[in-house]
Amino acid sequence: MKIIEVKDYTEMSRKAAEYIIDKVCHNPKIKLGLATGGTPIGTYKNLIEDHKKKGTSYQDVTTFNLDEYVGLSGDNKNSYRYFMDEQLFNHIDINKSKTNVPRGDIINFEAECLRYEDLIEKHGGIDLQILGIGSNGHIGFNEPGTSFNSNTHMVELAQSTINANARFFNRIEEVPTKAITMGISSILKSKEILLLVSGENKKEALFKLLNGEINESFPASVLKKHPCVTIIADKAAVAGLKVHC
Ligand code: F6R
Repeated sequence: MKIIEVKDYTEMSRKAAEYIIDKVCHNPKIKLGLATGGTPIGTYKNLIEDHKKKGTSYQDVTTFNLDEYVGLSGDNKNSYRYFMDEQLFNHIDINKSKTNVPRGDIINFEAECLRYEDLIEKHGGIDLQILGIGSNGHIGFNEPGTSFNSNTHMVELAQSTINANARFFNRIEEVPTKAITMGISSILKSKEILLLVSGENKKEALFKLLNGEINESFPASVLKKHPCVTIIADKAAVAGLKVHC
């Protein structure tokens, strides 16, 4: 794992966007794995700004999002499909039919998980996966205890994840308790991974990732098994850590 330490959220977002833009320019048909949540919002803003100013094109790019809440359709403001449209897709020249988010509003979730996993495979896999990290070490919505062999599956969200995500909803009761997520194995199949970590509340998780054991009780620890992971972390998340990569 390679770690790039940056000053703050603004610099992390700029660096991450530069990283992604460089990959898109070298491979205009790149398959990008995308995340939602607070962490990548600044990165997406930078991608939009660059697209408007410099014309980086996403016409041939295909995207796969990590996860979606169960029970929310794409036109629900709290769904991750809606988030991605608002935060990125509506502002760049990407072909919407090439943007993929698991469906949270269908009845047969088992079939949806298989369809999603299959779709990624049919596209030849993800070239670059963007990840955030939960303070409990989750990646995607793979909560502690998830098997490292898991493919796309349905999960019960941990209470800490529900609490953390309540900030995007009017009331905590509105936060769905289930989600569909790419599994740990699905994530690990990506050719390259870019993990973004910002803020003091992620410090402990980053410490565990860098210094702890590889263990299913801390899902992100599996990233140590991947041959090509870059972490961009800001000072608040790294502060005082002895970084061994
Ligand atoms: C989002 C996702 C989650 C988030 C994580 C951190 O698609 O898969 O793993 O990356 O919960 O969320 P934030 O960035 O809001 O701290």
